Amino acid sequence: MRGIPATLAVCLAFGLALVPAAAKAADPVAVMADACSGCHGTDGHSIGGMPAFSGKKQDELTKALRDFKSGAKEATVMDRIAKGYSVEQLDAIAAYFASRKK
Ligand code: HEC
Repeated sequence: MRGIPATLAVCLAFGLALVPAAAKAADPVAVMADACSGCHGTDGHSIGGMPAFSGKKQDELTKALRDFKSGAKEATVMDRIAKGYSVEQLDAIAAYFASRKK
């Protein structure tokens, strides 16, 4: 059967191509934080109308995200975004951004 080695080669090629992607995705908090950059920019350095939070301390970020989730802080979109994460995940995201470049 001539087709089998070719199929195997394709599978191996894809398998190898996936390894670096998997290694990059190793930090689950960085992956969650990636979802924020579309609006808030890299490391919270947003440009334009979106609020930048790059200068905020960890406790300020933690409070803001928890308050968005609970509804204590008024929001147009952040309440819905924050509800998509557990409190533990929000705390981890806050710690991540607080540790990034100011
Ligand atoms: C769809 C765009 C969008 C995404 C995605 C988004 N945000 Fe926001 N964010 C906003 C807007 C708009 C506000 C202003 C509050 C509001 O209207 O909801 C805000 C406000 C904030 C604030 C408060 C800033 C301040 O100075 O009061 C924090 C902190 C924040 N976002 C963190 C995050 C984090 C962390 C994520 C990722 C989990 C995220 N945002 C994802 C649009 C976004």
